[in-house]
Amino acid sequence: MSRILVTGGSGRLGRSVVDGLARAGHHVISVDRDAVPAAQLPAGAVQHTADLLAPGEALRLMQDATPDAVIHLAAIAVPFSAPEDVIFSTNTRLAFAVLSAATEAGVPKIVTASSPTVLGYGSPAGWLPDAFPLDEETTPKPWNAYALSKLIAEQTMQMFAAAQGDRIRYAAFRPCFVISPEEWEGAPTQQGHTLAERLADPALAAPALFNYVDARDVADFLELLLQKMDAIPNGQTFFVGAADALATEPLAELIPRFLPGSAGLAASLTGTSPSFSVDKARKLLGWEPTRTWRTELRNPAPSRLNDEAPAAFAAAGTGPKEAP
Ligand SMILES: NC(=O)c1ccc[n+]([C@@H]2O[C@H](COP(=O)([O-])OP(=O)(O)OC[C@H]3O[C@@H](n4cnc5c(N)ncnc54)[C@H](O)[C@@H]3O)[C@@H](O)[C@H]2O)c1
Repeated sequence: MSRILVTGGSGRLGRSVVDGLARAGHHVISVDRDAVPAAQLPAGAVQHTADLLAPGEALRLMQDATPDAVIHLAAIAVPFSAPEDVIFSTNTRLAFAVLSAATEAGVPKIVTASSPTVLGYGSPAGWLPDAFPLDEETTPKPWNAYALSKLIAEQTMQMFAAAQGDRIRYAAFRPCFVISPEEWEGAPTQQGHTLAERLADPALAAPALFNYVDARDVADFLELLLQKMDAIPNGQTFFVGAADALATEPLAELIPRFLPGSAGLAASLTGTSPSFSVDKARKLLGWEPTRTWRTELRNPAPSRLNDEAPAAFAAAGTGPKEAP
């Protein structure tokens, strides 16, 4: 069992991360500006309310909690949800404040959340990758303050890794569009619509290139990452996504409809293939996403692809849920 401090632990992703790590037997210290109702806090977790941008606050928390690992999630998590300069300064200052405090306190493992948006898809000026699927080798070309702030969070992590060497282990991860457990049941997603609506109207998922990940799979990824960080090269960044696309048609057909000029590039995305590869996490950590909209979503839209669930989903042993 480890002591793990999670910033942003009250958020959409943070709640599942706190829950997953506590269920795995860790002592979790959640730090957030907002508290969750005490009844929702899992056994093995405690929470502290704090503004991590208040001078000295992050260091004080690290020194009080003496964690074995820090997972930094706190941020403004939605592009354009605040003025661009506020998103930029909040997210970059939070990343620096938390990573520098954890480093100064000698926390042995430090992980920060980035985002797939660093790649720059959705730019109004046009965007095409060199190749699909997108992976950690794809060149980042952020086009808004949120995406840039996340790229800087990755570089902040790498700066500390370069300065500390292997004395402290660092990593960043880019979770795809996060689906929390209540969203499978019909609660609105981060973008305000429901998952059923997102599946029924490809124009809603197209801006994210149909990527998604179950928040509990992210928690599983983080648990495994913390276990294996000592054994992989320091300062790595990982995509964390589902094994399929959040779409009812192959992306080879869907992506060219929304991304002009991409037909040849997307041709390999047949069947249920997602646009983002998680092969690096598979290879370096042995991580595999186990949840898919095909097994988690209540009232899914009709799909041409429902009979084509990848083997990993069958192995997970979860059948489609019945409508309530
Ligand atoms: N949700 C997604 O689809 C998604 C995708 C990619 C990356 N991410 C990243 O994952 C992380 C978590 O995202 P989320 O969806 O859970 O966001 P969220 O907005 O639900 O949670 C973020 C939490 O951070 C807290 N916070 C913000 N500023 C703070 C401060 N100064 N001090 C203390 N706490 C503060 C907020 O109170 C909130 O609870 C973020 O870094 C986000 O950029 C999320």
